[in-house]
Amino acid sequence: MPSKNSLPLDTLASIIRSRRTSKPALFEGGPSPTFVRNLIDIARHAPNHHRTEPARFYLLDSQRIHLVGRLFAEIVRGDGSDPSLLKKADRKAQEWGKAPGLLIVTCHSDKSSVLAQKNPLVTQEDYATVSCICQNLLLLMQNEGISTKWSTGQVWKHPDFAKAINMGSPTLEKVVALIFYGYSKEHIDARTLAPLDDHLVNFHAKVED
Ligand SMILES: Cc1cc2nc3c(=O)[nH]c(=O)nc-3n(C[C@H](O)[C@H](O)[C@H](O)COP(=O)(O)O)c2cc1C
Repeated sequence: MPSKNSLPLDTLASIIRSRRTSKPALFEGGPSPTFVRNLIDIARHAPNHHRTEPARFYLLDSQRIHLVGRLFAEIVRGDGSDPSLLKKADRKAQEWGKAPGLLIVTCHSDKSSVLAQKNPLVTQEDYATVSCICQNLLLLMQNEGISTKWSTGQVWKHPDFAKAINMGSPTLEKVVALIFYGYSKEHIDARTLAPLDDHLVNFHAKVED
């Protein structure tokens, strides 16, 4: 039975279905950092085994976005011997550096902690929690007309990355998502998925049919 706080199912379904990955190159301006901070605070309300609160957030200003873009370009460029990678690196530096908004979300998990020693799954569960938080945030942004892209472009491989974002505990934090966000006129249709019955074992099916 719907609770007194329930939204119509169609409303929630439409937000979930219409969230698509957008191209940061097409973003034109973004919401205020204060507004994004508020959304992050809401998004944190996700299931979290052992209540470890593993997510750490780095909300970058334009100077740091530009720097992270440059660091990623250096990773993409490699040793500089492949002309196609040089081109890609330039494109990425442009695309990342000009993004109006970038939030980096990491998972803080200490394998040597007493909790992790007792519960070896804790690192995996922490990652699951951070992923839930990221999806919460993407949906909140979608609802506010803010386009997003979750990226795992491996900028963290750059030796200067942790310092560039003032990472709190570089040895314990792993990047889960680089969330690019901004306003975009691009419209992308909902994604078509495989039929649910291909992926669902439903032991109720026979009773309900
Ligand atoms: C964990 C994760 C990592 C991702 N990393 C990248 C990435 O590095 N580059 C990229 O273009 N898209 C990335 N994406 C976005 C996916 O490519 C995208 O979700 C997928 O193509 C489905 O499209 P949709 O989000 O529009 O439904 C990532 C998504 C997730 C969940």
